[in-house]
Amino acid sequence: MNAIAARKSIRKYKAEDVKKEDIETILRAGMLAPSAKNRQPWKYIIYTGAAKKNLLDVMERGLYRERDGERRLPNSQHGLPDAFHTLRIMRQAPVLIMIENTNGQSPYREIDPEQRITEICDTLSIGASVENILLAATELGYGTLWIANTCFAYEELTASMGTKGQLVGAISLGVASEHPSPRPRKDFSEVVEFRQE
Ligand SMILES: Cc1cc2nc3c(=O)[nH]c(=O)nc-3n(C[C@H](O)[C@H](O)[C@H](O)COP(=O)(O)O)c2cc1C
Repeated sequence: MNAIAARKSIRKYKAEDVKKEDIETILRAGMLAPSAKNRQPWKYIIYTGAAKKNLLDVMERGLYRERDGERRLPNSQHGLPDAFHTLRIMRQAPVLIMIENTNGQSPYREIDPEQRITEICDTLSIGASVENILLAATELGYGTLWIANTCFAYEELTASMGTKGQLVGAISLGVASEHPSPRPRKDFSEVVEFRQE
C-alpha cells in the first residue's frame, strides 16, 4: 500500500544514473505479474546513453511527420503537443524502457474478434507487469512515467527497434527532481458499485 500511494507520474528527472542491478530488480518485479494463460507476452528493451538519444531522435522525426506530413492518427492531432512534451521528459530521464507485446501486431492491421480478445488479455497482462515495475521502482526510490505517446511515431520506432510484435508504450525511469501532489481521483462511489441479491 505504501508504494501504491507513493507512486506518481514523474515528469522531471535528475541526470543521476540508475544502477544496473536496480534496473534488473525492477524488471524482475514486472516478470512476476500474472498473465493470461501465463503467456507472459511482455518484452522490455532498455535504452540508455547514445542508444536512447538515437531512438528518441527517431521518435521526434515521427512526431514531426505526424504533425506536418502524412497523418496516421488524424483524429488525435490534439494530443500531439502532449506527445512533444512527453518526448522532452523521455530525453531527460536517464533510462527508457520500451514495452513490446510479443504476441501483438501493428495497430494499423485489421484483426478479427478472437484476435482482439487475445490482444485485450495480453494488453491487460502487460499492464499488470508495468504496474509492478512502477511500484518496484517507487520502493527503490526512483521516479517513473508510463508512456503511450509513442503511438504517434509507431512505425518509425518499431522500424528502428526491429520490433516483431506490437509496441505498446514505454516507461521513463530515473531519480525524480520533482515531488508532485497526488493527482485527483474519481469518487469511490462513482467507480464502485456493491450489489446484493
Ligand atoms: C497507459 C498509460 C499511458 C500514459 N501515457 C502518458 C504519456 O504518454 N505522457 C504522459 O505525460 N503521461 C502519460 N501517462 C500518465 C498519466 O497521465 C497519469 O498516470 C495520470 O494522469 C494519473 O497521474 P499519476 O500517475 O501521477 O497518479 C500514462 C498513463 C498510463 C496508465
